[in-house]
Amino acid sequence: MHAPIGVFDSGIGGLSVLRSLQRELPNERFVYLADSANAPYGEKSEAFIRQRTHAIAEYLLAQHHIKALVVACNTATAATIHELRERHPALPLVGLEPALKPALALSHTRRIGVMATRGTVSSDKFARLLASVQNEAHFEVQACNGLALAIEQSTLPDQATVAQAKIAQLLQIYTRAMGRFGSAPGEIDTLVLGCTHYVFVENALRQLLGPDVQLVSTGEPVARQTQRLLAAANLLNTSSSAGHPPPIELLTTGDLQGLQAAAQRWLGLSAECCRAISDAHGVG
Ligand code: DGL
Repeated sequence: MHAPIGVFDSGIGGLSVLRSLQRELPNERFVYLADSANAPYGEKSEAFIRQRTHAIAEYLLAQHHIKALVVACNTATAATIHELRERHPALPLVGLEPALKPALALSHTRRIGVMATRGTVSSDKFARLLASVQNEAHFEVQACNGLALAIEQSTLPDQATVAQAKIAQLLQIYTRAMGRFGSAPGEIDTLVLGCTHYVFVENALRQLLGPDVQLVSTGEPVARQTQRLLAAANLLNTSSSAGHPPPIELLTTGDLQGLQAAAQRWLGLSAECCRAISDAHGVG
């Protein structure tokens, strides 16, 4: 059996990336780790995020023998991707960044909204990315404290109702703070979802902003980039699984029920794919 591809996020947000990876790479095995016990990363210190990211990468390498790693989290990528590359030079590694450049290609009004975590928007990596495109359009950048956490909580049966109301309230507040949305001159016509969790509230955003606003996320380009890297390293699994999707493992450091509900709701995966992991592995 071919080695799996490791995918991780602070929580369930990276499942939105896993969905694209599964479509692009149907013959691959995946092991996904949600660090939900420590979510949200976006409001924690950079040192903490780095420590978690390294521990998770080591765990996935040692216990699951992954052949590649996708950091399905903008916040962890911004804080740690350079260090990860230095520590694991032979490991194909894919990180995420808010899709400012793809948004430029889509926007007609040249006003682009960006929603991301505080950790992402206050990082040096994001500052450099923004500086590289700032002459070409106006970017309205919004740190969305509390939103990733509310999305995490929306999968927990006992917290779902309160969390849904919180999500609706935060989306109102943050989109209003960015300005007017629409396709007329001076309006924001393109919105970058710079956190993998936000993809799961796309429908609510569409309802709020109307049909003229384009939402841009990174799952598909990241999946294509992963495919290219694996092909270049000769690590692609080319043998077809003949109608049987390869096994997938979803792990969480947090609440198992939350991961099971998210996997079922967003990926149509059964609860048996999910497992809680603990301190014994050094990441729980
Ligand atoms: N889903 C993550 C991201 O893409 C982080 C959310 C959080 O834990 O704050 O940025």
